[in-house]
Amino acid sequence: MADTNAKLTVNGEEYELPIIKGTLGRPVIDIAALQDSGFWSYDPGFKVTAPVESKITYIDGGKGELLHRGYPIDQLANNAEYLEVAYALIHGDLPNAEQKADFFEKIRKHTGVHDQLRKFFEGFRRDAHPMAIMVGVVGALSAFYHDNLDVSNEEHREITAIRLIAKMPTLAAMSYKYSQGEPFMYPRNDFSYAENFLYMMFATPADVDYEPNDVVTRAMDKIFTLHADHEQNASTSTVRLAGSTGANPYACIAAGIAALWGPSHGGANEAVLEMLDEIGTVENVPAFMEKVKSREVKLMGFGHRVYKNFDPRAQVMKETCDEVLGALGINDPKLELAMALEKIALEDPFFVERNLYPNVDFYSGIILKAIGIPTSMFTVIFSLARTSGWISHWLEMHSAPFKIGRPRQLYTGETHRDFVKVEDRK
Ligand code: SDX
Repeated sequence: MADTNAKLTVNGEEYELPIIKGTLGRPVIDIAALQDSGFWSYDPGFKVTAPVESKITYIDGGKGELLHRGYPIDQLANNAEYLEVAYALIHGDLPNAEQKADFFEKIRKHTGVHDQLRKFFEGFRRDAHPMAIMVGVVGALSAFYHDNLDVSNEEHREITAIRLIAKMPTLAAMSYKYSQGEPFMYPRNDFSYAENFLYMMFATPADVDYEPNDVVTRAMDKIFTLHADHEQNASTSTVRLAGSTGANPYACIAAGIAALWGPSHGGANEAVLEMLDEIGTVENVPAFMEKVKSREVKLMGFGHRVYKNFDPRAQVMKETCDEVLGALGINDPKLELAMALEKIALEDPFFVERNLYPNVDFYSGIILKAIGIPTSMFTVIFSLARTSGWISHWLEMHSAPFKIGRPRQLYTGETHRDFVKVEDRK
């Protein structure tokens, strides 16, 4: 509801712009009245724009606070299973025992993929980046479910959400196996969600008795939770914009995967490991930091559009990193290097003045590497986990009337000019 109005005077006209308060965070100024003002609002990068109302996730960047349906991320990561968090993102509350059993069973029933889908992988070179495979294969999923693609049908929307959450680990593991030249492993539905993923990643037909380490399984599940959702980030906004055209959910999630791939977004976890490889040793850190300050390179895994304090996910990730490396008896020099970078960055005025702190991507890669997951799979795992967030936003959008997203622009191109024949052009 509008509480009071902001006033804007432009070209001698005064506009009353309703101020609308939410339950937490900044109120918004509804600028719809500018429709008749002869002006557009202008906000490249959407730094101060809220295009939607949502009840799913709340972030307080100043406090370093992240809530999913009101539950703090550290409490969820340390106490809930990822699928419970996925349920809460979709349905609004953590599931009770009966709802949990029902949801987990539905997911278990849909972990398989159509056998024809396996042929899609054969079109890729073995060295194809697994994110390229995921964009292609997830988008192609819609071709196998024509009977459930009516986005106006609630039952179709619900079964599609289940299918996407259930199949992402299978497709992710298939993209890894394909790159290794190893046979695909079928899901084992007696395993938990994270166990099943690790099984499909690392078991082989010659080692079907493979069982993932409990500490690693718990860490994997936590990593899924820490990446599940994050308000209106670039890839979620992509999913919503694609969804606003009425596009089918598989196409919308494929669009989200494509957006996530960028190194400024979900591709940062891969970029962090590449950066640590480039730095090599702690002795090289000062010289590297000079390159960062001269803006030759960015300190990957640092900084965030919203968090101007610690990313609460990074803190849980750091604790998980210590747990996994301890349990596996790994003394990874990259962790020592990352900690040296973090220490210097947190004391250096260049970073302090710009509120640059470690984000979710800074430590995740070290854990994934310790688990034996190749760098090229890091963003695939991010997209696997974020699918529950993406689909919950897609469902939220479809839960109420919506319009197609169609931003405008500030045009600074050529003004009117007449056509010139090719022989008369200079
Ligand atoms: C994710 O939106 C989300 O919620 C995303 C995410 C999610 O869960 O969906 O949280 C996941 O994408 C995390 C972010 C992962 N990306 C990286 O780690 C890449 C490195 N980070 C930067 O590219 C950057 O911090 C961004 C893109 C994350 C945020 O950029 P902004 O908000 O547009 O900030 P900015 O570019 O305006 O930077 C402000 C200043 C600039 O310096 P000045 O020009 O003002 O002097 O800080 C500098 C920037 O140059 N800066 C950095 C830096 N990040 C910002 N300088 C060095 N290293 C960095 N990492």
